[in-house]
Amino acid sequence: MASKYTCRWGILATGGIATTFTKDMLTNPATRDVHDVHHVLAAAASSSSKSRAEAFIKDVDGPSTAKAYGSYHELVKDPDVDIIYVATPHSHHFQNTMLALEHGKHVLCEKAFTVNAEQAKKLVETAREKKLFLMEAVWTRYFPLSIKIRELVKSGAIGKVHRVTADLSIATANEDGGLNFPDSSRMVNMDLAGGALLDLGIYSLTWVYQILYHCQEGKRERPTVLAAVQKYKTGADELTSVLLNWPGQNTQGFASTSLRVATQPDGEGSPAAGPAARIQGTKGEIQVFGPIFRPQLYRVIKVGGKRGDVEDVHCPIPKDKERKGKGDEGVGHGMFWEADEAARCLRDGKLESDTLNWEESIAIMEAMDEVRKQGGLVYPELIETAVYDENSPLNGGQ
Ligand SMILES: NC(=O)c1ccc[n+]([C@@H]2O[C@H](COP(=O)([O-])OP(=O)(O)OC[C@H]3O[C@@H](n4cnc5c(N)ncnc54)[C@H](OP(=O)(O)O)[C@@H]3O)[C@@H](O)[C@H]2O)c1
Repeated sequence: MASKYTCRWGILATGGIATTFTKDMLTNPATRDVHDVHHVLAAAASSSSKSRAEAFIKDVDGPSTAKAYGSYHELVKDPDVDIIYVATPHSHHFQNTMLALEHGKHVLCEKAFTVNAEQAKKLVETAREKKLFLMEAVWTRYFPLSIKIRELVKSGAIGKVHRVTADLSIATANEDGGLNFPDSSRMVNMDLAGGALLDLGIYSLTWVYQILYHCQEGKRERPTVLAAVQKYKTGADELTSVLLNWPGQNTQGFASTSLRVATQPDGEGSPAAGPAARIQGTKGEIQVFGPIFRPQLYRVIKVGGKRGDVEDVHCPIPKDKERKGKGDEGVGHGMFWEADEAARCLRDGKLESDTLNWEESIAIMEAMDEVRKQGGLVYPELIETAVYDENSPLNGGQ
């Protein structure tokens, strides 16, 4: 058997998603039946202090060889790091990813890729020029469930698809009309590119795009975009709905998101409220049960079938029981599949992933730009600029 490819990761930032991703990345790939690549935590960096990075490495149960840095600048200069995972708030993605690319590192950057499409284009241009791998970390696309659903759609299993609807919303409203976040939270803080669209709406758009855009044959048609946006007192969007129209394909998508009412009012993962995404074709429908960023159940309903005669397909996320998780469960959140994809691209010398290539990430950023334009949603210049500044405060200064 050919030897496994080793991917050496550097983790930029030490917050919530950095922890979840790194724990997943450190699981044994064999537990998900992956045998061609594996991952190593080479280093982690915190913009606040070296001790924070050390605590992070301990928390994720990283190897004793992993290096801890008290700045992002030190991390991107580490010769033992192949690829940087950018896990800062989206306000920081452009400057942090540029910092890594400019220092010759491949990058997996959290969603939303950037604040605007111009920044995304600049990242892509830089990665292309420097022949570096770059991918937006939309982990859901790499789930076996997503791959299976795209295959079903492409094979015509539900006929010609005409419509996709998807919602990702969370209920965080207080009795007093406010939201259950401090105004400084990255969820609603304009300085951190807060709001429902960039944080949650990206997943609703992901389901619309991975079916109605990604699965198009030949040169893909871009949709027209019609949006309705309502804002919170901080200026961030809190109720956003987007209608996407592809007249040439005879398809429409509807992507919604909110911070006030939940897709699943009785808790994440509950099927009681029905599907969170519906893919509707002439011969049937595929329903995806939420949360749509981490779905584990889909349903196929055939047109003209017997009432109640539906196929439910469960796709549980495998766990590595040897790693320390909550209780005795082990570790396995579903973020390892995107890490495997990045590793395979590095191994094969690919600069972008076919599952979410640069052109598609930019197309989605352009749609979000249009939503923001229609909703009058403008972030501060420091985080909207597409001019790279190595010493930007977003890179932690120098
Ligand atoms: N894929 C997913 O399912 C998923 C889930 C949640 C979030 N995300 C994405 O991941 C990114 C980070 O989200 P998160 O939930 O991990 O956020 P978080 O818990 O607040 O962590 C963000 C980290 O970024 C660093 N940072 C640098 N400058 C910062 C600043 N001015 N304010 C706040 N943090 C700053 C901090 O780490 P240091 O102090 O160590 O530098 C902080 O711990 C966002 O873009 C979000 O959309 C993705």
